[in-house]
Amino acid sequence: MSPKVVLLPGDGIGPSITDAVVRILAAAGADVDWETPLAGATTAESEGAPLPDRVLDAIRRTKVGLKGPLTTPVGKGFGSVNVRLRKELDLYASLRPVRTMPGVPSRYENVDITVVRENTEGLYSGIEHVVIPGVVESLKIMTTPACTRICRFAFEHAKKIGKTKVTALHKANIMKLADGLFLDCFYEVAKDYPELESGDLIIDAACMKLVMQPENFEVVVMENFYGDIVSDLCSGLVGGLGVTPGANIGNDTAVFEAVHGSAPDIAGLNMANPTALLQSAVMMLNYLGQNEVADRILAALEKTLGEGIMTGDLGGSAGTTEFTEAVVTRL
Ligand code: NAI
Repeated sequence: MSPKVVLLPGDGIGPSITDAVVRILAAAGADVDWETPLAGATTAESEGAPLPDRVLDAIRRTKVGLKGPLTTPVGKGFGSVNVRLRKELDLYASLRPVRTMPGVPSRYENVDITVVRENTEGLYSGIEHVVIPGVVESLKIMTTPACTRICRFAFEHAKKIGKTKVTALHKANIMKLADGLFLDCFYEVAKDYPELESGDLIIDAACMKLVMQPENFEVVVMENFYGDIVSDLCSGLVGGLGVTPGANIGNDTAVFEAVHGSAPDIAGLNMANPTALLQSAVMMLNYLGQNEVADRILAALEKTLGEGIMTGDLGGSAGTTEFTEAVVTRL
């Protein structure tokens, strides 16, 4: 029986890039039985909930999801659907591999960094309140179990993909308790991996080093908020948000999604780059054990980009549909 996967097309450019990915996976012969419940801006209006419980239940049942970007209103309205999804399903590890792609213009060569971001707590706990008008508190929650499991995930993942070095990024010089706890957990876990090099960097200095010598980094691990920023920074090292995939992984459930958002500025214009979501789907196929199909899709994608067929965000002139057909032709 084909594995069931919950597909959330998402908002903005989401439906067009998920269509593209579904088309490419079908053409490649991926063995997936999609289940597509409604979620996002549509259900926020019709059901008063951008992430209805039935969607969470569907993912709990299938244990695998592929998700387009979902819009979160700024400063008002409902909280982030993405953050809620990760918390409700306890998808504690966000995995964002960033690597130089053939033909994709960027300032660097040979970048191959995996960003591991804690997904359930930190400054993204969303616990905020007004103390008195004009004064708000936003709490950063850090716990030993969550810090320990994300650091262990980073070391395990480094071993799995044949890397030699794991670096923790933090601000323990200022947030001595919160980030100090993260760092203590990191070095405690590191003791179990003597074969891997471990080190740490203060987050601001790390950002400078990432843009000066990205080739010196392999696997980096950090709390939620830093991970959000650093993964966008890293995607800028290899051509931008249009090419950076991601996965949210828990103990027995995983939801795969691009790092980018719903790009309302180009929604409906056939301009969106499906590469990031396609690479997320490739990660999903690997997770499902369909490595041969995953490799074939990746090879076709790299061939397409290598031949200079690209969407506008990468300096090319192909629309979403032309790009998709070019990948299908090269499968
Ligand atoms: P964004 O990632 O949607 O867009 C930033 C810039 O990158 C825009 O200029 C956009 O056109 C471009 N871009 C992004 N993806 C692209 C693609 N595949 N192809 C070509 N160009 C692309 O970030 P923004 O504008 O900050 O957020 C828009 C909405 O998306 C917000 O509501 C935000 O909350 C949501 N969002 C959702 C995420 C998710 O579902 N995981 C992640 C990030 C943001």
